[in-house]
Amino acid sequence: MYRTHTCGELRLSDVNKEVTLSGWVAISRDLGGLTFVDLRDRYGITQLVFDMDDNAALCERARNLGREYVVQASGQVRERASKNPNRETGDIEIRVTDLKVLNAAKTPPFTIQDDTDGGDDLRMKYRYLDLRRNAVQKNLLFRSNLAIETRKYLASQGFVEVETPNLIKSTPEGARDFVVPSRMNKGQFYALPQSPQTFKQILMVAGFDKYFQLVKCFRDEDLRADRQPEFTQIDCEMSFVHQEDILQTFEGLTKYLFKNTLGITLGDFPRMTYDEAMRRFGSDKPDLRFGMEFVDLSNIAKGKGFQVFDSAESVIAIAVPGCAEYSRKQLDELTEWVKRPQIAAKGLVYVKYEADGSVKSSVDKFYSADELKIWLEKGDAKPGDLLLILCGEDEKTRKQLSELRLEMGTRLGLRKPDDFKPLWVVDFPLLEWDEDESRFFAMHHPFTSPKPADIAKMESNDHAVLKGIRADAYDLVLNGVEIGGGSIRIHDRDLQSRNFKLLGFTTEEAEAQFGFLLGAFEYGAPPHGGIAFGFDRLCSVMNGVNSIRDFIAFPKNNQGRDMMIDAPDTINKKQLEELGIRVVANE
Ligand code: AMO
Repeated sequence: MYRTHTCGELRLSDVNKEVTLSGWVAISRDLGGLTFVDLRDRYGITQLVFDMDDNAALCERARNLGREYVVQASGQVRERASKNPNRETGDIEIRVTDLKVLNAAKTPPFTIQDDTDGGDDLRMKYRYLDLRRNAVQKNLLFRSNLAIETRKYLASQGFVEVETPNLIKSTPEGARDFVVPSRMNKGQFYALPQSPQTFKQILMVAGFDKYFQLVKCFRDEDLRADRQPEFTQIDCEMSFVHQEDILQTFEGLTKYLFKNTLGITLGDFPRMTYDEAMRRFGSDKPDLRFGMEFVDLSNIAKGKGFQVFDSAESVIAIAVPGCAEYSRKQLDELTEWVKRPQIAAKGLVYVKYEADGSVKSSVDKFYSADELKIWLEKGDAKPGDLLLILCGEDEKTRKQLSELRLEMGTRLGLRKPDDFKPLWVVDFPLLEWDEDESRFFAMHHPFTSPKPADIAKMESNDHAVLKGIRADAYDLVLNGVEIGGGSIRIHDRDLQSRNFKLLGFTTEEAEAQFGFLLGAFEYGAPPHGGIAFGFDRLCSVMNGVNSIRDFIAFPKNNQGRDMMIDAPDTINKKQLEELGIRVVANE
C-alpha cells in the first residue's frame, strides 16, 4: 500500500496512529539533530520529522532528499511542539521510521510555491510542475466543481447532454476557422467548430427540447487575457421558449452556481437594453461595480467658441469621485494614457470641482465658472470630484470614455474582485455595418431572430432603418465581462433566407453553406432559442481573476503556441503527400 492517508488529512485526533504517506518533497530543513521535510500532494502538506537520536542513518537519508523527490514515509503521528496555524495539518507531524524514495527528481527550473519565480513561458513549458502549485491546482479544482454543478443543475431542469462533432465545415461568418485537411477527400478541409450553433438547432428540430453540452470551441482570432483559441462553452438550446424563459433558466443556473461553489447568494439580475448600456456606459458589457456614468455635454458645451468641442459630434464626460486633487503631472499622465494608440483619443479635458466649491478647468478660457458648474451638476459631481471629458465622433468617443472609466475604476480600487454585479443586456441590434467590407454582418450570428415587430423593416433599403432592427438577442455580463450570449432563433425557412440575403449571401451561397439547416426548417422546426456561457470566463470572473489561462490546464500563449508540447509544428513529407498538401511557406 503506497499510503494510508493523504498529505492533507491528518489532525490531532490521529495522534499516535501509525501511518504511511506518499507525496513530493516540497522542502527539507536540516536543523542539526532534526531534519524536517514538508511532504506535498493534491490534498495538502504534512510535516515529516527525522530525529538523529532515533535513527541516524534514516536522518542522513532524509537530509539528502532533493526538492520534488517522490517519497513514501511511514511513522507515527504526534502532536507538534510549535504548531502552524496556517496549515490544516499544522497541529501534527509524522515521526518517520521508514522512508522509501519512489522516484528522484531533477532540481525544478522554478520553485513550486504560490509566488513562484518562474516566468510565464517557463511555467508553461514545464506546466506539469506549474500545475503542482497550490494556486493553480485550486483553480482547476474550482473548474471541476463548477462543471459538475453545471451538469447537476441542467440535468435537474431536464436538459440532455448531447455531443456534437468536432470535424465540421468552414463557414465565413464570425471568427476565422481552424481547418483540418481530409486525407480521404484530397483538397477538402474540415473546420473545427467555433460553436455547435447549427447542430444544437438541428437537435431542436429533432425534438430534444432541452440540450446542453460542455463543449470545446475553436476560434482563430487574436488572443487576449479573456480569449483562447480553444475554449469551453456551456452550450444550451431550448424549444418552445421566448426570451424570458431563457433569461429565467440561465439566471437560475448562474445563481445556483454562485450559491453551490462560492456560497454567495445573488439577487435578481438587472436588465438593460443595448441602447441604454451604450448611452450610460459606452459599452455593451458595462461593469456595474461602480458608477461614473456618462454625462452627455454635447448640447451645453458646443457653440461657445471652443473649436475642439464645436467640431465634435459628441462631448461626453465622467465624474471621477475624489480626484479633484490630481496634480498637473497626474493629469498629463492621464492625457497620455488616453492618447495611446490602444485608446487613440485626441486629448482630455478636465474640470476640477475643488473641495472649497471653486472650479478649475483646462478650458476655463472658453467657459465661465457658472457654465462649468452646470456641467458638474449634470454629472452629479460633488466638491472634490474631477470631471474628465472626451469628444469626437459619437461611437468612438463612447468607446474611448468607456476605457477611461474602467481605468479610473481600477485605479480607485472600485472594481473589487469579490463584488459581483451581473447584468442582462437585451435588445441587441440584429445587424452591424462593417465599413471595411461595406456590408452588414450579424451582430450575434445569422440565425438570430429579429424582434417580430421589426421583421417588416428587413425589406427596407435604408441603412438607418436596417441598423435600427432589434433582435431577440441577449448577453449575460458579469463585472464588465461578457460571460454568455444567445438569442431566439429564426425557425422559418423564408425568414432565414431573407436574413442571409441581408447579410450579403446569394441564394446559392446560403444553400451551399447552410442548406442542411434550411432543409431541416422545412420538416417541422419548433420555435427555439438558446445561449452559451464562456465557461473559462465564468471560472475566472467568479474568482476575481482577469486571465482565463489560470483556469485552463494546458493553455496556449499569446502566439497561440502550446509551449509544453511545442505546437503547432511542421508535419513530415509523407503526411503532407497523403493529404495532398504542398507547403509553400517553407519552400
Ligand atoms: P458567442 O460567440 O457570444 O455565442 O460565445 C459565447 C460565449 O463564449 C465565450 N467566448 C470565449 N471565451 C474564451 N475565448 C474565446 N476566444 C471566446 N469566444 C467566446 C464568451 C461568449 O459570451 N453559438 C453562440 C451562442 C448562442 O447563440 O447560443 C455563441 O457561440 O463568454
